[in-house]
Amino acid sequence: MSTILTVVGARPQFVKAAPMARAFAARADLRHVLVHTGQHYDPSLSDDFFRLLEIDPPDHQLNVGSGDHGAQTGRMMERIEEVVVAERPDCVLVYGDTNSTLAGALVAAKLRIPVAHVEAGLRSFDRSMPEEINRVVTDHVSDHLYCPSDVSRQNLAAEGITRGVHVVGDVMYDVLLREVDRIGPANPVAERLGCADGGYVLATIHRPGNTDEPGRLSAIVSAFDAIAATGLDVVWPVHPRTRSRIDGWAAGSRVHAIGPTSYPETLALLRGARCAVTDSGGLQKEAYWLATPCVTVRPSTEWTETVERGWNRLVEADVAQIVGAVDAAGPGDGGLDAYGDGNTAAAIVSLVAELAAAHR
Ligand code: UD1
Repeated sequence: MSTILTVVGARPQFVKAAPMARAFAARADLRHVLVHTGQHYDPSLSDDFFRLLEIDPPDHQLNVGSGDHGAQTGRMMERIEEVVVAERPDCVLVYGDTNSTLAGALVAAKLRIPVAHVEAGLRSFDRSMPEEINRVVTDHVSDHLYCPSDVSRQNLAAEGITRGVHVVGDVMYDVLLREVDRIGPANPVAERLGCADGGYVLATIHRPGNTDEPGRLSAIVSAFDAIAATGLDVVWPVHPRTRSRIDGWAAGSRVHAIGPTSYPETLALLRGARCAVTDSGGLQKEAYWLATPCVTVRPSTEWTETVERGWNRLVEADVAQIVGAVDAAGPGDGGLDAYGDGNTAAAIVSLVAELAAAHR
């Protein structure tokens, strides 16, 4: 039997781990060990996701918590290494582009354990984003690279990575399809706030490039006020990183700055929204799959297909640009099949099993 050790730590990784954990559970020939670094620890960012997505609690909780990049990543590496040495996995699986991804990949690569990277080959070509550094380094130490689309395969080829590359689609589509089915027509947060379907914008902002630049954040907040002045509600589940920066700001009655929402609540909000305004990577894709137009407050995106197909538009942190893009937001003209067919997790698990078996 092969042992696969998965490292997760931040909210989007719990979402990605959900369909994967189910696909692992269906394989009697694999032992799956789940390690949570503790990068996200608030129940609203962590435990709630495990519970609502029906993921078993992690086998190892490393309680690393928040910190500067070096300190946080270093603490993770130290603790992940102890677990990996004890568990002796045949493959270490990491997701996306967070510090937890980087830490897991580096530890495994240095112990000469095969690394498999889900969401490989994504590039914003903007090295001021910590995630871009994490992506590039992780891809270059990975043995199997699972790309959501052909664009990410081409990005890897341009960096000389062609071995172990598989275009498989996106596991976030798997989980979205299952959860949309489960939530039915309800939209509890919008109902609680008195927001009608199509009558509100769903906003999320948490990138340091936006939250840590006071000029940019205040332009974004002013844009939300301006959108509200046009008669739309703005539903804004605020990430903890952003919360401390907007303390003291008095939201207008149509700008609802609420706490983080759960995964099913977020999907329902996104499905009912007139459009999304975000700097999240995951939300850009989820909006696209739900056929909700998206306005992305960033100079670049890794999810270029969503822009090319007309569902997503990039804007600066500028009041007129954000308000204008929301006003103009409408359906795209391209299909919703850019990132696979929703059966990606099972395909990845088969590939991981091959990688692990070759190592044993
Ligand atoms: C991380 C990822 C980002 C991902 C995001 C999803 C990196 C470099 N960034 O960003 O790619 O999109 O997760 O949410 O890994 N905090 C809490 N409670 C928590 C966790 C954090 O209050 O449970 C606060 C702390 O003040 C902390 C700050 O949020 O300093 C930022 O947390 P951090 O782990 O640095 O990354 P995120 O900004 O969440």
